[in-house]
Amino acid sequence: MKKKHDSHHHEGHHGAHHHGDADRHGARQPDRFDPARAALLDDPARFAYLPPAEIFAMLAAPAGGRVVDFGTGIGTYALELARARPDLEVIALDEQHEMLDLLRAKPAAQKLSNLSALHTDEIAQLNGTADRILALNVLHELGDNALRAMAALLKPNGTVLVVDWNAGTERPVGPPRDHVYTVAEARERMERVGLRIEGDRMFKYHYSLVARVAP
Ligand SMILES: C[S@@+](CC[C@H](N)C(=O)[O-])C[C@H]1O[C@@H](n2cnc3c(N)ncnc32)[C@H](O)[C@@H]1O
Repeated sequence: MKKKHDSHHHEGHHGAHHHGDADRHGARQPDRFDPARAALLDDPARFAYLPPAEIFAMLAAPAGGRVVDFGTGIGTYALELARARPDLEVIALDEQHEMLDLLRAKPAAQKLSNLSALHTDEIAQLNGTADRILALNVLHELGDNALRAMAALLKPNGTVLVVDWNAGTERPVGPPRDHVYTVAEARERMERVGLRIEGDRMFKYHYSLVARVAP
């Protein structure tokens, strides 16, 4: 019997959501996040092992800045950030319309004038404009092209905070270890697309890395 939030990625019956339009080369997770599991992203238990306040302190967004939540899902952390920092413009970006529709339907999202949802089809308008990028539980789903597209969103002095499940840690929650990276593997992938790692921190089940585009 699986626990409620035990492995929200794979139980052997995926396949309904292959849109086939993104290059997933390099992504460790073989398939897209299944929107049927979207509600698990709003499991409040997540905030115990990945406290929003600690994530946002690491993100260190400058006053009045633009933050892109890359692979926002249903905007669980984007919403918290927009609420905690009304000075920021928070753009919740995802490649799946189903996820963005679920975010837009949330009453809390409708009340926040500094939060907007955007599909990756529209990503070009964000190139070079992000002060900060948050990429939470998404690196293992990104192919190299998507990773490059993410880095291209940064302003010259902008930084990205990548937080993802740690393959090096035995966990009662999250995807199987062979679907995610160790912190060393994550570093290597990020450096390969021209990101320079400037800081790291381990959470209970996650690693996190702060990076900027290498000059
Ligand atoms: C595991 S969910 C995490 C959602 C959110 N960051 C959170 O922690 O609540 C991963 C999300 O990333 C999105 N995603 C995967 N690859 C993407 C890409 N190349 N561009 C944009 N979004 C992507 C998926 O559609 C999914 O909604």
